[in-house]
Amino acid sequence: MSVEMERFEPSRTVERNLGMELVRVTEAAALSAGRWMGRGNKEMVDQAAVDAMRHAVDGVDMHGVVVIGEGEKDEAPMLYVGEEIGNGNKPEVDVAVDPVDGTRLLALGSPGALAVIATAGRGSMYSAPPGVYYMNKIAVGPAFKNVIDINAPVAVNLDRIARVRNAHIDDITVAVLDRPRHQELIQEIRTAGARIRLITDGDVAAAIQAAMEDYRGLDVLMGTGGAPEAVLAAAALKCLGGEIQTKIWPRTEEERERFKADGIDLERVFRIDDLVSSNDVSFAATGITTGEMLDGVQYYGWGARTSSIMMRSHSGTVRYIQARHKWRKGVVQE
Ligand code: FBP
Repeated sequence: MSVEMERFEPSRTVERNLGMELVRVTEAAALSAGRWMGRGNKEMVDQAAVDAMRHAVDGVDMHGVVVIGEGEKDEAPMLYVGEEIGNGNKPEVDVAVDPVDGTRLLALGSPGALAVIATAGRGSMYSAPPGVYYMNKIAVGPAFKNVIDINAPVAVNLDRIARVRNAHIDDITVAVLDRPRHQELIQEIRTAGARIRLITDGDVAAAIQAAMEDYRGLDVLMGTGGAPEAVLAAAALKCLGGEIQTKIWPRTEEERERFKADGIDLERVFRIDDLVSSNDVSFAATGITTGEMLDGVQYYGWGARTSSIMMRSHSGTVRYIQARHKWRKGVVQE
């Protein structure tokens, strides 16, 4: 039986790719915020990234509305939820931003802080109800898309992933945020026999790494993290063909009761299409401090180097972009 190989189609025309412009926005945020690395000041880290991202994004050819941003208008002067950004031209998109995912990492000079932005067709990004900050999450790559179930026991999900990978459970690596709330989860993973990578922050990057087909360092992200980060991860995983399932997670009994009284369904499972329903998604991230996925910003007298990832769901293409930025046009001296 002959197998038909799919190949690059040389006569293909090149269409516009919004993600290419978005990379310049995350680069701007990273270049600005990277100066604050290790200074112990989370507020300045965030402010530097927000200012730079806000200015850069107005040059992008789009009519964007911030759905995931820095908060409500009265608490965030820039990149607030509902703010219109971009130059006003088409396409009409929802925008999710996290000028620094890992503010603590950057303030401490620890690895893995990123600047992140994603766009998707207007009205397609999920916005959690006011007061909802966290979601329980499970995120995987395309191979495991149809086998995970956030309601199944941890050991069952790990067993299914191992079977699809044709591996043993102790070959599987799970990323979990290192938080006291995950004590039980960590114990369940250990009892099942899988390996754990405890991350101090940054579950967007961990979800992406779990979903990367050409990266075998992580198989799945499990546990509770930010609700906005769940939407950003969903945007990235749409481009990678992965899956993320989430449930709203109340921090306390009192919060649980309040959510229930507000009519929030705590049993509802939000799948990737509930978090980002559009199939036209672009995602870009630039490393601020060096992590496993991306190098951080390197500064020189003449300028700086950045390392970014850019993807879009339409084609599924993933680009790694290394850039050299000169402060002034002229000779580069290494
Ligand atoms: P910030 O940089 O916005 O603080 O987010 C970092 C982060 O680690 C996210 O990646 C994650 O989803 C969230 O914080 C977890 O929240 P918490 O630190 O409150 O457990």
